[in-house]
Amino acid sequence: MPTQEIISTEPATGAVLWRQKAGDADAEVAHARRSWAEWAARPHTYRIEALRRFANVVRQKADAFTDLLARETGKPIWEARSEVETVIGKVEISIAAYGQRTGQQRVDAPMNARLALRHKPHGVLAVLGPYNFPAHLPNGHIVPALLAGNAVVFKPSEKTPASGAFLVDCFHAAGVPEGCIRLLVGGPDEGKALAGHPDIDGLLFTGSANTGIALNRMFATRPEKILALEMGGNNPIVVWNTPDLYSAAVLVVQSAFTTAGQRCTAARRLIVDAKLYEPLMGELNKLIGRLIIGEPHADPAPFMGPVIDNDTADMLTESFLALSTMGGRPLRHMSRPIEGRPFLTPGVIDMTEARETPDVELFGPILQVFRAETYEAALAEANNTRYGLSASLVSQDPKLYDQFWATIRAGIVNWNRPTNGASSSAPFGGVGWSGNHRPSAYYAADYCAYPVVSSEAEQARASIGLGLRDA
Ligand code: NAD
Ligand code: SIN
Repeated sequence: MPTQEIISTEPATGAVLWRQKAGDADAEVAHARRSWAEWAARPHTYRIEALRRFANVVRQKADAFTDLLARETGKPIWEARSEVETVIGKVEISIAAYGQRTGQQRVDAPMNARLALRHKPHGVLAVLGPYNFPAHLPNGHIVPALLAGNAVVFKPSEKTPASGAFLVDCFHAAGVPEGCIRLLVGGPDEGKALAGHPDIDGLLFTGSANTGIALNRMFATRPEKILALEMGGNNPIVVWNTPDLYSAAVLVVQSAFTTAGQRCTAARRLIVDAKLYEPLMGELNKLIGRLIIGEPHADPAPFMGPVIDNDTADMLTESFLALSTMGGRPLRHMSRPIEGRPFLTPGVIDMTEARETPDVELFGPILQVFRAETYEAALAEANNTRYGLSASLVSQDPKLYDQFWATIRAGIVNWNRPTNGASSSAPFGGVGWSGNHRPSAYYAADYCAYPVVSSEAEQARASIGLGLRDA
């Protein structure tokens, strides 16, 4: 049963922000299919100019976009502003990435022939976006896809459709043809209709592992289509042999609670040297007690806003209780400081002696703590996940970092830095259940075009030297 209407509600206030009838995947794919060949045939410089105009449009509308992102996600205004800056920055990064990873090259070839390596777009690509970065993450697929000459049908999350619509309007206002970037409003049903559509050439997905695995299954019999999956994590931060426990606590708080924990790269598990446990927990407790949790536009500025909706807040508080019934020892309980709204205080729970430690991504401000007696045990605990997105070590010892880097299975392995805050100028992706080995960000260029090798000569001058009878 297709969704009838999508209604976006501000998490912080409950006010209705936006509503629109759900769209039709068939109509949007047909529109994109009619338009893509002309876009693909344009010179690359034409598409570069169109995308630079898009960056300028976003720059001009930055205040309105920032306000909308903050209202629709609940994230603080300072964070929404940085999301808009990332959207703008993506254009020049993608131009550089296209040139470096998917441009044209001449390769040496024998016999006066030339061997040329060029890239072609796939055609019509579907993009499915998540709600936590409703502009930056889909844009991370859309800009490189358009630049390479694809047309795109983009379905934003049903929780943040207004931000998705705003983004698409910016492309159109910049003169990117309306047929080349289409908005499909809808929820999972529209997502399924788009992903399963016979006329798409591929799907670029950012979202949860559950959805990604369902999509992977759907594409199992369609090897001709490109599928890029960017999924979640159960990311560890390890604190070992470090003298500055205040800084360690800051790094843990930034990793675990920025965006109210709604980042794929957020630290979900803190693994700490048993000898540092008491003093580190003391610092962490003091710092968490000082965090301002409030609505996006509040003054003084909050560190974090609400989670995306009440259902999510309920699920998180229930998950926290479930962890304690498994033998976890709450160090800071989660609470709902504003009745009826999805604000949460960070929850911290010691799971060292728990009977069970489910390897699931709890996408919110919950931090599970594990004490370890040896560094080897800490590393084993850090790798004790089927995901593999990000991991961080807080330590003054470079040898420990060498060992960490060599042992940890993840696409992002950091040292004395948070687990989150990934750069758009680097590849971004993970192993295990965090993705399907098609990293995004700088490497998005790779999955937006396919290589074509041509052996070429100006004239057909040919002879057979050996193995011929005399004429
Ligand atoms: P989600 O998987 O629920 O939804 C993502 C998108 O898929 C939405 O547009 C949704 O409507 C659509 N969808 C849902 N079910 C579908 C189905 N069965 N078929 C087709 N489409 C379907 O994810 P979310 O809750 O919006 O976002 C949070 C998740 O995204 C977290 O797990 C987080 O870790 C992950 N994430 C990953 C990255 C990354 O780059 N690796 C970045 C941000 C968020
Ligand atoms: C995310 O994509 O959810 C987070 C990116 C980051 O902060 O590393």
